[in-house]
Amino acid sequence: MKDAIDAAKEALAIHSGGKCVVPLRINLDVPRHGGQSLFMPAYIEDLEAIGVKIISIFPSNSKIGKPSAPAQMVLLDSRTGEVVVIINGTFLTQLRTGAVQGAATDILARKDAKVAALIGTGGQAAAQLEAMLCARDLKEVRVAGRDFVKTKGFVRDMQRQLAAYNTEIVPVESAGQAVAEADIITTVTTSKEPTFDGRLVKEGAHVNGIGSYTPDARELDETIIKRADGIYFDTREGVLEEAGDVIIPLKKGVISEKKFNGELGQVILGEISGRESDSDITLFKCVGMATLDLVAAHRVYKKAVEKGIGNRLEI
Ligand SMILES: NC(=O)c1ccc[n+]([C@@H]2O[C@H](COP(=O)([O-])OP(=O)(O)OC[C@H]3O[C@@H](n4cnc5c(N)ncnc54)[C@H](O)[C@@H]3O)[C@@H](O)[C@H]2O)c1
Repeated sequence: MKDAIDAAKEALAIHSGGKCVVPLRINLDVPRHGGQSLFMPAYIEDLEAIGVKIISIFPSNSKIGKPSAPAQMVLLDSRTGEVVVIINGTFLTQLRTGAVQGAATDILARKDAKVAALIGTGGQAAAQLEAMLCARDLKEVRVAGRDFVKTKGFVRDMQRQLAAYNTEIVPVESAGQAVAEADIITTVTTSKEPTFDGRLVKEGAHVNGIGSYTPDARELDETIIKRADGIYFDTREGVLEEAGDVIIPLKKGVISEKKFNGELGQVILGEISGRESDSDITLFKCVGMATLDLVAAHRVYKKAVEKGIGNRLEI
């Protein structure tokens, strides 16, 4: 995860510096089977890398025991155009999405952050939790979901898997209990409604909104958007097009675009500042971008070659 966070920082800087060609995602509807296949291409000249992540949403797959969102990442060498590797895209997505949050937390959260909150216990949650543990030396993480039995099960698994971090991971029954004393808050849910009350967030906290990606859905309420002293995005264009968390308050006129500081990559490039005081509330909203997949996949590929990991396909 530490390497992945490093890769995410590189990707954010490449993206904000305009060093990545990212055509619009192609969404192919498959009405006969109630599915959709999404193709996310990108090209980074400086890495000599081209990539396309293919992720399909086929909800009926679960009835035949197959994953409902199968994904693969295909990487090409831009010197020859040849495909060099195919990587499990589900894992890559979890890793790079955790990592971009880890990058934001590392850059924006208070250095002395000790308590974190995780809202959501689904497929992305484990990587989100690990990324917070990597970014700061935390004493405790409080985890909240919709179903307390499921939350307790998730926390038990995490206590085993992440024991090496020596952080207490505890299940709590409500998001309010999780966020009240948190220095870092991460939401990673499919919720359409705000997941916690922004009035509960303490001064100096850092908030990551990872889950929502449609204009009518949001995990963050207007209060926290208004209270935030610094608001940063992975991609300004993507967030303003897709994220209800900011689109809804903008439409209502509760905030204006002046409220947004810019992209996290611009902070990395030294173009804009990050947190300015220990009492600031900082907020990172991300919707994901192909640049993150490509840089992460490129690093995974280089490491796999170095270590002789993977299966060779003769085609
Ligand atoms: N920003 C990015 O780059 C990025 C990348 C991948 C996924 N995502 C998004 O992240 C979200 C989560 O992904 P996932 O794979 O973990 O989904 P998932 O379906 O596996 O899990 C979603 C979880 O959200 C929980 N949830 C829903 N409403 C809630 C609420 N009000 N309070 C607490 N928990 C609630 C559900 O109980 C479930 O555990 C999705 O919306 C997905 O599209 C974003």
